[in-house]
Amino acid sequence: MRHLLSATCSRGIEPLLAQELLELGVPKVEERRGAVLFAGDLRLAYTVALWSRLASRVLLELACFPAADADQLYAGVRGVDWSGQLGPDQSLTVDFVGVNEQLRHSGFSARVVKDAVCDAIRDRTGRRPDVNTERPDLRLHVHLSGAEAALSVDLAGEPLHLRGLDRQAGEAPLKENLAATILRIAGWTGADERTLLDPMCGSGTLLIEAGMVRRDIAPGLLRRRWGFDRWRGHQRALWEMVVREAMERRKAAAERKLRLVGVERDPDVLALTRRNAAAAGLDLRLTRGGMEEARPPRGEPGLVVTNPPYGLRLGDEQEARETLSNLGDVLRQRFLGWTAFVLVGSTQQVGALGLKPSRRIPIKNGPLDARLVELRIAEHAPLGLGAPGWRKAPAAEPAEE
Ligand SMILES: C[S@@+](CC[C@H](N)C(=O)[O-])C[C@H]1O[C@@H](n2cnc3c(N)ncnc32)[C@H](O)[C@@H]1O
Repeated sequence: MRHLLSATCSRGIEPLLAQELLELGVPKVEERRGAVLFAGDLRLAYTVALWSRLASRVLLELACFPAADADQLYAGVRGVDWSGQLGPDQSLTVDFVGVNEQLRHSGFSARVVKDAVCDAIRDRTGRRPDVNTERPDLRLHVHLSGAEAALSVDLAGEPLHLRGLDRQAGEAPLKENLAATILRIAGWTGADERTLLDPMCGSGTLLIEAGMVRRDIAPGLLRRRWGFDRWRGHQRALWEMVVREAMERRKAAAERKLRLVGVERDPDVLALTRRNAAAAGLDLRLTRGGMEEARPPRGEPGLVVTNPPYGLRLGDEQEARETLSNLGDVLRQRFLGWTAFVLVGSTQQVGALGLKPSRRIPIKNGPLDARLVELRIAEHAPLGLGAPGWRKAPAAEPAEE
């Protein structure tokens, strides 16, 4: 059966998500604000849910109907055949996105939807399902656009950036799908044999995502809960087939060598990084220390990918600029021939790096308008500039802890 499907994402990354979906075998995509629409069978929906590194959710449309006001919204939801979706002894929750002239409060609109579902099931069975916002059996998603509503089953349940690792995080961790977006922009693929170094790795999100790409590990493979687990439309055998194929791919790539290096000054955070990497089954080379002492491992120039502290709290801005300035020095003096991708908090902070970016890509980090800058470090240090620093320090493998 062919379904209308959508993968949601942060604003601005729709073209990257569209490209990812095409690579996953989606035949045709349509970009919208914060989502990419496509059509396909349940197997394709499962594949995208399991494999998309960039998406936040995957939604399967049940109905699309006029919803200029609460009555129309109620009637549209009630008209759906709920027997194939949810039973009276199950629970649901409703996410409602969008407003129009009559439906101005999404909390109210969500209640209208929930009432319509419960009334429809009660009329058929004599019992009403429960509402459970924490662990519902079915998470419904309604997207209101003008006077039209699209009602979908949320196949993800918990958002897809949760990779099932029970990740322990330090301060300001990146969401996994943002880390994956940065790596995609950086051109990182499973075939990449270069060293990838994060000199301020925090809890290791960028390194772990890079390792999962390199080892062809589906981002959802370790998740234990999905939005479709207790959905009546779920086809368990089909899902298990999609998972089995992903396990075979992981096995086939298990011997790919990883050159993933992390540096972090906070020992407690580094301990979390080790736990996170172990949970993902990835061996990272982690060093405790200041980024100021980071040196490239021997071998070909590689890739630096990092997100330094933004300095959001009052008084931290100056420190954040100093960190960026030091990072710029370290890159210029020691990482000759490398390419760096640095996520900085704002356009104003870019200058602190003291290096001319070859690209500046606006990127949302939650509510923040961050910038991802690409820096191509020259292969030779300019005469006089920074020469003492890098000449004194011979390239050496970072000492492993
Ligand atoms: C914004 S966090 C990185 C978050 C990381 N990408 C993650 O997802 O967990 C910045 C990290 O840089 C570390 N840090 C700040 N200054 C540093 C320095 N000079 N040398 C090494 N680490 C530093 C902080 O301890 C913090 O863990």
